[in-house]
Amino acid sequence: MLQEKINPSNAKPFAATRRCCSCPAWLLWTTGLVLIALILIIAGVYLNNGPQPPSFRLTILKITQFNITTTFQDCSTDLSSKLHITINVHNPNKDTVFFYDKINFTVYSDGVFVGNRSFPSFYQENRTSIDLQTSISNTIKDLDPDAVDSLKTNVYKKCYLPLKIWLRTDVNVTMGTGKTSMYRIKILCYDRIRAADLDHACDGCTSPSAWELPKLSAPNCKIMSMLFFIFK
Ligand SMILES: *[C@@H]1O[C@H](CO)[C@@H](O)[C@H](O)[C@H]1NC(C)=O
Ligand SMILES: *[C@@H]1O[C@H](CO)[C@@H](O)[C@H](O)[C@H]1NC(C)=O
Ligand SMILES: *[C@@H]1O[C@H](CO)[C@@H](O)[C@H](O)[C@H]1NC(C)=O
Ligand SMILES: *[C@@H]1O[C@H](CO)[C@@H](O)[C@H](O)[C@H]1NC(C)=O
Ligand SMILES: *[C@@H]1O[C@H](CO)[C@@H](O)[C@H](O)[C@H]1NC(C)=O
Repeated sequence: MLQEKINPSNAKPFAATRRCCSCPAWLLWTTGLVLIALILIIAGVYLNNGPQPPSFRLTILKITQFNITTTFQDCSTDLSSKLHITINVHNPNKDTVFFYDKINFTVYSDGVFVGNRSFPSFYQENRTSIDLQTSISNTIKDLDPDAVDSLKTNVYKKCYLPLKIWLRTDVNVTMGTGKTSMYRIKILCYDRIRAADLDHACDGCTSPSAWELPKLSAPNCKIMSMLFFIFK
């Protein structure tokens, strides 16, 4: 009945036999499609007009100490490390400023916690870049034996040390109109760090003592999760 009212000239015999199930399905589909279209339009408008999140690049990473020491008395293994990290933070927006809360840095090598540090809160103007420099120096006592094996393989047998640097922070985003919102972001910078003395003393990579990023390589860090809050 409903279909005939909507489109009486088009009432075909096969449509009549499917009428009772096709009418609700047809309504559901149309409503669903209209809803999806609306969501896409709103998202499109928002993404085109809303602020871009900041971007992060790992520009300097030097490891000046990465000692794995085993004590004979109790067979425990410690890791002492010293890392120097510079991360470039870029605000790509022409009319939006960022207020960063403390940024927490946490470093892992092959799943082994190496150290952490927090970078103080700061302000970033529209279309600017800022270098965040931090040093992490830490000693981890009594490492897990499996972790010791994987660390030793990387340090003494391979020429690269894999490192993951996680950054966690909240960013307040203030647009030109004065509207403010907040991103809670988790960023991952990953790289394999080359032994610095590889070309000289470290033939076959026996026991390098310093490591650094290959020249000209500034890996982009990835935003792994971003929660978005809006407040006025
Ligand atoms: C930053 O924003 C201010 C105020 O909206 C504007 O005058 C200035 O030109 C902007 N700077 C850049 C580099 O876009
Ligand atoms: C971000 O805004 C919230 C709410 O206004 C405020 O409590 C918080 O301190 C702000 N954080 C920064 C880093 O400006
Ligand atoms: C660093 O890690 C320790 C141990 O997990 C934790 O207690 C401390 O709060 C962390 N510090 C920062 C700045 O994340
Ligand atoms: C950063 O670390 C401090 C101390 O461990 C903690 O209180 C704070 O919640 C952390 N911030 C984020 C965004 O994870
Ligand atoms: C750690 O390594 C550095 C450089 O290889 C070395 O000078 C230092 O003596 C080592 N420290 C310990 C405690 O083994």
